[in-house]
Amino acid sequence: MTAVKMGSSIRPCLLLLALVVLVHGAARSRAANNRFPDDFLFGAATAAYQVEGGWNEDGKGENIWDHMLHEHPDYSKDHQNGDVADDSYHRYKEDVRILKEMGMNHYRFSISWARIMPTGEANNINQAGIDYYNNLINELLDNGILPVVTMYHWDLPQWLQDLGGWTNPIMADYFEDYARVLYENFGDRVKWWITFNEPLSFVSGYAHAGPFTQAPAISKPGVGDYLATHHLLIAHARAYHLYDEQYRTKQQGKVTITLNTDWHEPLTNSTEDIAAADRARQFSFGMFAHPIFSTEGDYPAIVRELVDKKSKAEGRTRSRLPVFSKEMVEYIRGTYDYFGLNYYSSKLVTSGVTGENPSRERDAEVVISIDPSWPSSPVTSWLQVVPWGFRKLITWVHENYNAPAILITENGYSDDGSLEDTDRINYFKSHFTELLKAVYEDGANVIGHTAWSVIDNMEWTSGYTEKFGVYYVNFTDPARPRIPKASSQFLKEIIQTREIPQD
Ligand code: NOJ
Repeated sequence: MTAVKMGSSIRPCLLLLALVVLVHGAARSRAANNRFPDDFLFGAATAAYQVEGGWNEDGKGENIWDHMLHEHPDYSKDHQNGDVADDSYHRYKEDVRILKEMGMNHYRFSISWARIMPTGEANNINQAGIDYYNNLINELLDNGILPVVTMYHWDLPQWLQDLGGWTNPIMADYFEDYARVLYENFGDRVKWWITFNEPLSFVSGYAHAGPFTQAPAISKPGVGDYLATHHLLIAHARAYHLYDEQYRTKQQGKVTITLNTDWHEPLTNSTEDIAAADRARQFSFGMFAHPIFSTEGDYPAIVRELVDKKSKAEGRTRSRLPVFSKEMVEYIRGTYDYFGLNYYSSKLVTSGVTGENPSRERDAEVVISIDPSWPSSPVTSWLQVVPWGFRKLITWVHENYNAPAILITENGYSDDGSLEDTDRINYFKSHFTELLKAVYEDGANVIGHTAWSVIDNMEWTSGYTEKFGVYYVNFTDPARPRIPKASSQFLKEIIQTREIPQD
């Protein structure tokens, strides 16, 4: 009787205790999912042509963006160019000051090849350019900020373009020479290297010409862009092996490439759309990622198959997509120490025929669309806000490329420059949330996030019409003051608390 009694009073107690433990546990795991890992890196990014200005100062050579926008001012929406931009060439200390103000762990910037090697050749070094980057790197380190350095953010010296640019296989030699100059001059202090930024974007400069196209604006779709792809992959591997063989032991840094893509979601869950979405991923991302990050190396099989088949049907003697020798497949495979990943938006995919004949779009046999219910940037047509696509892309990279350490090297939102940039805050908040789901729920190894961008800047062929900065810059003011937007305060708080605020 007593036992029964005791039992019946203990049972509710135990139940209550279990409930308390459960609720507490759930709250704790919510908190954990909301909290960044202790060693997570927060940073922000820019690129040389977009911020530096000083386009012909102190011996800098002309690059393909200087050239294209001087020759064709109408190729950018507002007919502007990067001649002055944010004037970071003179105001880099301001950039470092605001990075420090936000508490950033790293700054991703790029080196202008033509600033330190005016023609792109290693026998012609411009000391003033070397000095500029030494000053920037030292200023960052003095302020406790890690430099993450992109070697090539789209601004090829024009002299090399006149030799054919990335369509010429000799570019791998020139790029290796350039990388050597960088390791020699900066490798004692720079430990995070990125060879190329977004090859998918810049090889399109060999596919399309005319207003709003990438430099060098050459119209050879399905041929020029594939040649450029092939040669930059070799150039990347050359820079990686050079580091491995001659600098790694002494300098102890890391080298990779930064790749980008929209997340490609099947339009429906039909087998056909699922296969189409995979083709879209392989033609936009796998084409660069597979040779470097996969276990097998080389181009993805579906890319090889479709381009070869079409090239043959077109009566060509060889595939429009060049072939790597077995040795070259091995040489390129595994040339990474981490994965640089840029994400902004997502697209829907179904099967079909689009694009010029020939072209990458047509080769991929996909039709791309968006869901009209997705919120969109008010100024950038391609930027729909799809945070779940961020998680899917991270997890897809994690699962398809051997669980690499992933540094998000760009992620951000554009508007017209308002200081109360609530939509940008919401963008970052929702994307941080999805990033942490990829980490805690999918097991991805994301080591850091880099916001694009520190300051409003020259958005390529959109000129100054699309503002991505967390600091506002008035481009009619010669002093180019950097003015904080609300989003810079938001990032600062996240970095301080290392948590995503829940309210
Ligand atoms: C990617 C590019 O790397 C960067 O230069 C550009 O400004 C942003 N996307 C926004 O379009």
